[in-house]
Amino acid sequence: MSILREVEKLAALHKKAGNVRNRLPKTQAELWAFIGFQPRAIQETSLMQKKRFAVEVWHRRAGKTVMNIVRLIERAVFSKLKDARFAFMAPTFAQAEDIAWSYLLRFTEPFEPLGRDVEVTKLSVTLPNIGGSTSRIRLYGVDNPKQRLRGIYLDGVVLDEFQQIPGTVWTEQVRPMLADLSRRGEDHLGFPNQWAVFVGTPMGRNQLYAMYSRAAKWHAGKAATEFDPASNRYVSVTSSDWYAALHRASETGLIPPDELAIARRDMGESKYMQEFECSFDAVVVGAVFGNQLAQLRRHGRIGQIACRPNDPVHTAWDLGWDDATAIWFWQFAPGTDHLASREIYLIDYLEVTHHSLADIAAKLAEKGYRYGMHILPWDVAVSELGTGKDRKSILRELGILPAVAPKPRIKQDAISAAQALLDRCWIDEDRCAHGLDMLGLYRREMDDRKGVYRAEPVHDFASHAADALMTLALGLKRVAPPPDQDERPDAAVF
Ligand SMILES: Nc1ncnc2c1ncn2[C@@H]1O[C@H](COP(=O)(O)OP(=O)(O)OP(=O)(O)O)[C@@H](O)[C@H]1O
Ligand SMILES: [Mg+2]
Repeated sequence: MSILREVEKLAALHKKAGNVRNRLPKTQAELWAFIGFQPRAIQETSLMQKKRFAVEVWHRRAGKTVMNIVRLIERAVFSKLKDARFAFMAPTFAQAEDIAWSYLLRFTEPFEPLGRDVEVTKLSVTLPNIGGSTSRIRLYGVDNPKQRLRGIYLDGVVLDEFQQIPGTVWTEQVRPMLADLSRRGEDHLGFPNQWAVFVGTPMGRNQLYAMYSRAAKWHAGKAATEFDPASNRYVSVTSSDWYAALHRASETGLIPPDELAIARRDMGESKYMQEFECSFDAVVVGAVFGNQLAQLRRHGRIGQIACRPNDPVHTAWDLGWDDATAIWFWQFAPGTDHLASREIYLIDYLEVTHHSLADIAAKLAEKGYRYGMHILPWDVAVSELGTGKDRKSILRELGILPAVAPKPRIKQDAISAAQALLDRCWIDEDRCAHGLDMLGLYRREMDDRKGVYRAEPVHDFASHAADALMTLALGLKRVAPPPDQDERPDAAVF
């Protein structure tokens, strides 16, 4: 559609919205009746809460998606803002299209005579709002590069299946969009503008868990401990802006007990506990490091791990060409010479995309650590296309002297080494938060035809942290074998 046609269409919609505003529902109950939605009790509680931010952990098939589409329609219709914008984000475009889109079309249908505009190709619906302007609700898949999130503005957002959305989508892309002071304030029913709702079902202790546990503390009026990069210290933070809820199938009664019993038998205990009992400690199905991470949590080895400034900080890398470069920062156990140390302290994590090696070197310098070894993956010696130079030489020129980890015979060797290494780790929960999320998500998928897990884990946004950990595990075996193996470090690798 030409820009002129778009402008004309919008002007017509505005005019119509101005004329119909008195015919719009005026309360939540009126709106639910108007669109033919009868909320279940837990849906009603959720739809009525007025906090600006909410984290809702619900069991499968509880009505999360339906309810949040209704929430978006409510906020859209009751908005007093000019050209209000709301978004529903799903992990993949296919998920948004397959499920949420049909709910959105169905529940906005009654607005047709009042001026509903549907753009199928954009998965967006525009409705008249109570302020006499229009509100647009659009569905996004965060995996879809064609739906760019940058450059848009938002008045409210639902992040559905947040356990499968990288935490950085929130911190780096969505959160900044909700900081528009000129659009703060409240809607017709007193709900705050510039809001966000996170919805999901547990998948290990990943970004949904982190978000939920913090929100639950704030919801209960308690303080949460957070790492403050500005002061490089842990600080105690409170907030009255957050709502948190967790609903287990055994408590909601939404799914009949016999149905739950069948699901439990068919899915296996672990998956059932995760999906229906909202357990964050159930092992993520297919998760490569699930057992190790759960074990570390149980033993209190993931928490506040201070960096000891007098001891060197070492690094271990996964080098991305186009996608992310990931780096673990680590130290040996205090007071031990590195060859004797079995314990590894992961104290920090860095992940960047589209950064040159020079940019990354600058980031390392910025961290201000006193560096020891830099362990790089075996392919660091491969020549950079175009320049003919290998990355090892470039790093050397930048003052980073790499030790090179050996090439694993097969991927499983690297995975096993990383699993064994994790058992020896202590991990700082805050500075390594993103890395921990990614490790938790690193998983194998089921080969449905063969009924077994594929040997090679999924290569996606979660694999960089895992690959960097494998570099560390393989590299350590070479440069610092554990004391019970009578091997000398291989000096030739430096
Ligand atoms: N208030 C309601 N009244 C009647 N049926 C409902 C209601 N809410 C949801 N449902 C029905 O329950 C089913 C599950 O709804 P929905 O897809 O929203 O659940 P979900 O929690 O998002 O599920 P999943 O975990 O699979 O994503 C759908 O068939 C939906 O139509
Ligand atoms: Mg859903």
